[in-house]
Amino acid sequence: MDFQQIFNAAPTVQSSAPGRVNLLGEHTDYNDGFVLPTAIPQETTVYLGLSPNNQHHLYSAELEEWVDITDSNMDSSLKPQGFASYVVGCIRMLEQVGHSIPPVNIFITSAVPIGSGLSSSAALEVATLRGLRSLLHLDLDDVKIAQLGQQAEIQYAGVNCGIMDQMASSLADPQHLLFLDTRTLERQKIPLPQDTEVVVIDSGIPRQLATSGYNQRRAECEEAARLLQVKALRDVTDPETVETLPEPLRRRARHVVTEDNRVLEARQGVSAERFGELMNDSHASLRDDYEVSVTGLDQLVELLQKTPDVLGARLTGAGFGGACVALVTAGRGEAIAHEVLENYNKLGYSGHILVPE
Ligand code: GLA
Repeated sequence: MDFQQIFNAAPTVQSSAPGRVNLLGEHTDYNDGFVLPTAIPQETTVYLGLSPNNQHHLYSAELEEWVDITDSNMDSSLKPQGFASYVVGCIRMLEQVGHSIPPVNIFITSAVPIGSGLSSSAALEVATLRGLRSLLHLDLDDVKIAQLGQQAEIQYAGVNCGIMDQMASSLADPQHLLFLDTRTLERQKIPLPQDTEVVVIDSGIPRQLATSGYNQRRAECEEAARLLQVKALRDVTDPETVETLPEPLRRRARHVVTEDNRVLEARQGVSAERFGELMNDSHASLRDDYEVSVTGLDQLVELLQKTPDVLGARLTGAGFGGACVALVTAGRGEAIAHEVLENYNKLGYSGHILVPE
């Protein structure tokens, strides 16, 4: 199926945006902290044209799902669900900042895996906003697109997320790491450590409780910052400072403070070995202090970490299931991914390789 077959007309514009994988800096973005993601090769593409009537028409090729949306006079309590929520969220956010959006036809196709922690939703938001920018000649820069995508996610998908995923999808490329200060939005593209490449394996474990667990962690961090009398945990640099907090806030805050320090160290340009150690430390911190790992992710990370030529490995994204990322010696990614996956799936899981493609 393509746009022509669905809408009986040719699309006017097309736009794409990638998913992302985060190498370091997990659960730091909503604490005003630091992150180090990169774009993955898989992208979401949207094709757009004006709608011939007074409704938006959305079609998802992967889901084979069709949704019709009545324009802004729609009762806002009738929020759409599923993929349409992200698209409609983007349209509504543009309207909120003063753009007038006529009814549109949108055809969506995506190679970004859904539910693996690789930000398929951010890729959809950024691709949609880019498509509307070019269809309607809107004056929006790439940072504004990321900010509107984040607001769509918060207000229409109910995840009280930070800005990392949308900034990565809007500004990163697969050849670099994107260092981002999520408070100031200062950013810098830095190379991967010398002679390394990235491997991403989906654990095959669905992200259960991800939304409620995520929102709960965020609330715990805000409470910890309040008790420490700082604006956000980003303002704490010495991990000793958190020792006075009651549990579990002490461990939650310790993860955030040490994770920020790991990103800042990596940004300085460390050796591949040191970068790998920082990733391993990040996983231990996410597992023990932040408690967002699950048994299968720990098993997959362990298998990766004990494989020769793997420099470091950790869960990536929000956790509670989803994917793991490893930094490996350049040229060895494919062989390592197959070897580890075979051993992992022998444990009864149905994981699969996402990067290299
Ligand atoms: C999700 C959110 C991001 C970030 C990560 C955890 O991907 O959308 O904003 O908080 O989890 O690092």
